[in-house]
Amino acid sequence: MRKDYLPMRKQTLFNNDWLFTDKKLDLDASDREFSAINLPHSNKYFNHHNIDNSDYQFISSYRKNFDLQKPTDGSLVFLEFDGVMMACEVYLNGILVGSHLGGFMSFSVNLTEHLKDSQNTLMVYVDSRERKDIPPYGHLVDYLTFGGIYRDVWLKIVHPIHIENIFVKPKDVLTKPFLESIIHLSRYQTGLVVNAVLLDEKDNQVREIHTSVQDKKITLVFDALTIIQLWDLDNPQLYRLDVTLTLDESEIDRSSARFGFREAEFRKDGGFYLNGNRIQIFGLNRHQTYPYIGAAAPARLQQQDAEILKYELACNVVRTSHYPQSPHFLNRCDEIGLLVFEEIAGWQHIGDEKWQNIVLDELQGMIERDRNHPSIILWGVRINESPDHDEFYVRTNALAHALDPTRQTGGARCFLGSSFLEDVYTYNDFSNTVIDPTQQPYLITEFAGHMFPTKIWDGEDRLIEHALLHTKIHNLQKGNTRISGAIGWCAFDYATHIEFGSGDRICYHGVMDTFRLPKWAGYFYQSQISPSKKVVLQAATHWTMGDRSGSGINPLTIFTNCDEVEVLIGDINVGKFCPEKTTYPNLAHPPIIIYGLNEYSAWGQRVFYDLHLIGYIDGHQVAEQRISSDKLPKKLEIKSSTDQLMADGSDIARVAFTITDEFGNPLPYARNIITFKLEGEADLIGENPFPMIGGQAAIYVRARRKSSLITITAQTPGLSEVKVFLKIMSQ
Ligand code: GAL
Repeated sequence: MRKDYLPMRKQTLFNNDWLFTDKKLDLDASDREFSAINLPHSNKYFNHHNIDNSDYQFISSYRKNFDLQKPTDGSLVFLEFDGVMMACEVYLNGILVGSHLGGFMSFSVNLTEHLKDSQNTLMVYVDSRERKDIPPYGHLVDYLTFGGIYRDVWLKIVHPIHIENIFVKPKDVLTKPFLESIIHLSRYQTGLVVNAVLLDEKDNQVREIHTSVQDKKITLVFDALTIIQLWDLDNPQLYRLDVTLTLDESEIDRSSARFGFREAEFRKDGGFYLNGNRIQIFGLNRHQTYPYIGAAAPARLQQQDAEILKYELACNVVRTSHYPQSPHFLNRCDEIGLLVFEEIAGWQHIGDEKWQNIVLDELQGMIERDRNHPSIILWGVRINESPDHDEFYVRTNALAHALDPTRQTGGARCFLGSSFLEDVYTYNDFSNTVIDPTQQPYLITEFAGHMFPTKIWDGEDRLIEHALLHTKIHNLQKGNTRISGAIGWCAFDYATHIEFGSGDRICYHGVMDTFRLPKWAGYFYQSQISPSKKVVLQAATHWTMGDRSGSGINPLTIFTNCDEVEVLIGDINVGKFCPEKTTYPNLAHPPIIIYGLNEYSAWGQRVFYDLHLIGYIDGHQVAEQRISSDKLPKKLEIKSSTDQLMADGSDIARVAFTITDEFGNPLPYARNIITFKLEGEADLIGENPFPMIGGQAAIYVRARRKSSLITITAQTPGLSEVKVFLKIMSQ
């Protein structure tokens, strides 16, 4: 759940007990025409590929009956939507109380006036059609938006004079740190007093300011903060500002903002500097969509994506291509030290003035919502890969700078020589090499992607080449001091429109598949992790003689962060091999590439033996991998991304499954049909039975609202049945 760092006002999740129908029903339609659901919700659930975007394009009705008395003390009641795809109208007790255009930003609706004294009925008509008048639509778009109330909804009850926004600006953090914070109130009145407490991560009070209020905009300065700890990638220290508002000595509101002390700057020398230290950006783009559930991923999955990017893919930056993403995702980036380039919604097309105004509103919403996140280092203020439009982009830049003077702007472009109106020249470089920049500062915001779509079940040549393309580009960008870094396209395979992808409506551009399971390119990223954090040893081979063009097993490519790897084929010790530093001098951990192995193979030895790799660091054995030469499926394995879920009706675990050889290596060409059975208070989301492809895949398990023990059993003929257990815990 999104944490509220204070018991501020009365703010509660409003995700449960909604009613849904995929039709636009009259406001007074009977409840019997709906089915019960909880949020986040996708207006349609899908198979993991072959997704027809016309299936989610309709107007649906979401209803919620709830008990809430109209406040008699003047309090205001707001409904806050974190995201509704793509447009909506909100009716309370039959009266239109709000509407919103655009699927990626939070918005708020004031319910107060039309609340009844008892039972209230809310109806939200959600228009999930790909409307040309709303970004990103108007022309072609290479991703699906899906539909529904797909993020959290909150009910907020506040005093009429309340805190609307807190903007915390740490300054001079490397020399004489101080904090300027701007607090916006809904209204000003005499007799108001503000109390602001600065707290460190352990809740220790660092400083306090107590002062009377003179205006609805309050500026507070905490100066001479000598003992603060910086927010950094390895030590992402977070602080909090708790703000209390009193009127004539009674507390009337509380709110808080979480932030970090850090200095992030792209400099004219080409580098990106975090707290004065140059950091070469090494990242991936992320779409917010998932198999089966569209974009309706609850907190846990959002947080896990951030963790996957940081801990499994070694990224230091993620780009939220191509829209503002979930608060849960961004909060987790703050907590684990993953930098973010967040951008406005859109794709290659700029619409008319009304369309542009939606973009400007979303830009404002994004910055006002997200400017306290220490992880965010750059605002993307151009529509991704759109043509130049100086008048529009002068406005987006000016708005971003006015709302947040502390951050630089960028905006991904796809042609060199486009107008440079931002602070950082951000360029999608699909040259399959690295173009030398002509502008500074300069960041590569995409590469690879459609230049090399790769499926997990592709032949081994292609999977290796895909991995080595990412290897090559990062090696080149790291070796060019005029480039601040590169963000590859992309982290995860994603659903797309008919004009893109591989014919089954999937863009296989990820270094991981749509289930967030790695291709070999994913292991290249992983291998860049420091071995002090995790030792990585993964051979990019199916270990078979006949899958490549020309056949054979040469060369053997190994993604590893070991110093050297010993290769044994059966009992034959082939020798120890070191990383390929000559070809990839700029990488912390170049792959190991070994030629001449065919003589040890079935052709040379008449028998094809198992492969055994042993990784060494400083002469010590630290890792090993064995790959079987007999490619027969030996095991079915399943693994849950968590062992417990919350009994909130929306929490989800990913249950990944693999068909493997005897040593646990996925067999990409296994064609088993896997059947799942679930016992307990949860539901399976996904294809059941699942026709295996690629040796690895996943289904999801969603908790119901009762605590229970869940058993998921997976079966396939010829292999032992396996189980995984999950606890569903009441909050
Ligand atoms: C880019 C675009 C991305 C994605 C990518 C595929 O041109 O910005 O959204 O479509 O191509 O490689």
